[in-house]
Amino acid sequence: MVNLGFSIGDLDFKNPVLTASGTFGYGPEFDDFLDVSRLGGIFVKGTTLEPREGNLYPRMAETPSGMLNAVGLQNKGIDYFEKNIYPRISGYDTNVIVNINGSYIGDYVALAERINALDKIPAIELNISCPNVKMGGMAFGTNPGSAREVTKAVRAVYGKKLIVKLSPNVTNIVDFARIVEEEGADSISLINTLLGMSVDVRKMKPALSTITGGLSGPAIKPVALRMVWQVAKEVKIPVIGMGGIMTTSDALEFILAGATAVQVGTASFIDPQASIKILEGIEKYLIEKGFSDIKDIVGYINRNS
Ligand SMILES: Cc1cc2nc3c(=O)[nH]c(=O)nc-3n(C[C@H](O)[C@H](O)[C@H](O)COP(=O)(O)O)c2cc1C
Repeated sequence: MVNLGFSIGDLDFKNPVLTASGTFGYGPEFDDFLDVSRLGGIFVKGTTLEPREGNLYPRMAETPSGMLNAVGLQNKGIDYFEKNIYPRISGYDTNVIVNINGSYIGDYVALAERINALDKIPAIELNISCPNVKMGGMAFGTNPGSAREVTKAVRAVYGKKLIVKLSPNVTNIVDFARIVEEEGADSISLINTLLGMSVDVRKMKPALSTITGGLSGPAIKPVALRMVWQVAKEVKIPVIGMGGIMTTSDALEFILAGATAVQVGTASFIDPQASIKILEGIEKYLIEKGFSDIKDIVGYINRNS
């Protein structure tokens, strides 16, 4: 048998295939397509203190090998999550992780405190990288001082595992990774979407109401992979890689480059079973290659090239 498990501190995950926030709803949306509990973990939709309507339509646009979105963290807020979503998802036999967002540091802190009290949520993903909101989001993740301040403030109130999600819209991603590690992050996830835009030539106006939006999908994979490789070499905490993972081979590229685990995002819109197929593919690959533990291939290219 192959060991696919990994850990963030003392939090164990049964395998390294996770779902990317905002692309897998809260989980139950996918119950008809797969056994969600087979996944290593699910990262639920971005959650905020107050309900948010999100941005005006149009807020999605297809691009070559990718998509632009400007959803803008539409969600019903933490009260609704606690009352209506949490009871539905706390029965999953996998790690359910909440992606938290805010306009001010105080929002992140208040959310982290609320989620700390939920027994069945063992970790949060601190999203300091959303490119589609007017305040907060990416502004925290593209300024070293703000990234430090928000990570520190959340760390001070949150006792469980803290995963910080970085923005690729920076010149030196390693600087940000080091900062959040120094401030007590238990893991780093990357990348969030790359800032992009598209123009509707027929209508002669921007394709998105917000003009710019976040690019995801295969188009961003080489950039994501490069950043994951750079960061994984420089930090001691586990790195969760994502960005354009559509197939087993894509996921393996990230793991061989240094990711301890991966998140599947846009791929789930195209094939809701993509994450499970990738999981099965990774297990098959390890068996074929004669490895008994996924850990043996994490960062393999850095040791053997
Ligand atoms: C429609 C959509 C909504 C998203 N919402 C969130 C979110 O709420 N929080 C977050 O951290 N990332 C969000 N993301 C970013 C993804 O989690 C992921 O980082 C990004 O899409 C890159 O991975 P991919 O190319 O596999 O999709 C969203 C992405 C998409 C496409």
